Amino acid sequence: MKYLEADFRNAMQNKVRSRGATQKELKGLENKLKKAHEKLTRLRETAQQGFMDLPYEAVTARLVNRLAKDVKKNFNNLIVVGIGGSDLGTRTIVNALGHTGDGVHVYFAGSNTDPDTLSALLAEVDLKKTVINVVSKSGSTMETMSAFLLLREALIKKVGKKKHAAHIYVTTDKSGGTLQSIAEGEGYTIIPHPLNVGGRFSVLSTVGLFPAACAGISVSKLLKGARQIEDEHRGRGHRSNPAKFAALHYLGYKKRGQHIHVCMPYADGLEDFGFWYCQLWAESLGKSDEVGPTPIAALGATDQHSELQLYLEGPPNKIINLIKIKKFETDLAVPKTFKKYDALGYFSGKKLSVLNHAELEATRKALTKKQVPNTLLTVPKISPESLGALFMFYELACAYAGELFGINTYNEPGVRLEKDTAKRILSQ
Ligand code: PA5
Repeated sequence: MKYLEADFRNAMQNKVRSRGATQKELKGLENKLKKAHEKLTRLRETAQQGFMDLPYEAVTARLVNRLAKDVKKNFNNLIVVGIGGSDLGTRTIVNALGHTGDGVHVYFAGSNTDPDTLSALLAEVDLKKTVINVVSKSGSTMETMSAFLLLREALIKKVGKKKHAAHIYVTTDKSGGTLQSIAEGEGYTIIPHPLNVGGRFSVLSTVGLFPAACAGISVSKLLKGARQIEDEHRGRGHRSNPAKFAALHYLGYKKRGQHIHVCMPYADGLEDFGFWYCQLWAESLGKSDEVGPTPIAALGATDQHSELQLYLEGPPNKIINLIKIKKFETDLAVPKTFKKYDALGYFSGKKLSVLNHAELEATRKALTKKQVPNTLLTVPKISPESLGALFMFYELACAYAGELFGINTYNEPGVRLEKDTAKRILSQ
């Protein structure tokens, strides 16, 4: 089964006239794309970038499944403490797929240094039956560490210093950060964060997989979906769909001022996917004072009644990426009550999934008519496989876009400025 299908026709000139790319332009980019593919292959083969290898890592799957087995046996809840790449992907998985079977309930400590969120969590969760998974690649992020220290103290109050270590699982890299040294000193379980995978590319590593496994979500299925995309990419290289997606965005940005990239899934279950995408796109591609598409997370059909007006009739500086779910987990038919009213009759008796698909199709058609380039990714349903496929698709597309723009996709020097300033303010 194909876990993700791509349709880019509405981003081409024969559909959206001068706002779309031409075959000639795509052809003209072929050499650059080929070089991008060679570079990505080199980064992967020399282990400088590990995200493309994650879908093949059976050892990681075994490790997280083994650890999760103990968690599920002994606890009812897990609290993930992290921010950015150490939080958003995991939220996407858990909020899309819920906790299943014997899975524990996964909570998120919130990464906003918002005391109300943490207080509410502490009031709700029985820490005696809870595992805390603190996730920080660097091991020193203020938002994460402050929440962790508060949770740890509350935990010790509940279960005592002696027993608290069994409740704490630390996901961090092994390069000797503060968190690792605390974990070693206190006897916490350490789950290695891969050294060659950056935060926003880490959802399919131990970062997202351990909490997913604890929630009872199939880690092997998540990886299987991602593998399908990366297999196809390895086979087709610069002609693969993620590379083409990147090329269309690059051409739109460079030649037509399409500086705003919208991700608009038509399913509540994928709302967090939009936020994950925003981080990936913004932190990876916003560089060097010159390059930087602005990502937007929208949601269908909700934003048809909000942002769509802007997309259709505002400045022609956008590319809209729609995501369709072929089959929902459940379905409901609209009651035929009051069918005689014209305003209700045309959808009475129809299933909600039919309405959802019709709305998406209407948005596609309206965008195309107004010459707003748009793409469509379709997944069979919201499943671990299709989520894995979506993550991998966008990560690869982002990596290609970075190469086309000629920037370093994997660093985030700008974020440093805020971190250092916050440190200065708090140290005074
Ligand atoms: O993508 C990134 O590298 C960042 O968004 C990080 O994930 C975020 O700053 C959290 O960092 P850390 O995992 O080191 O706490």
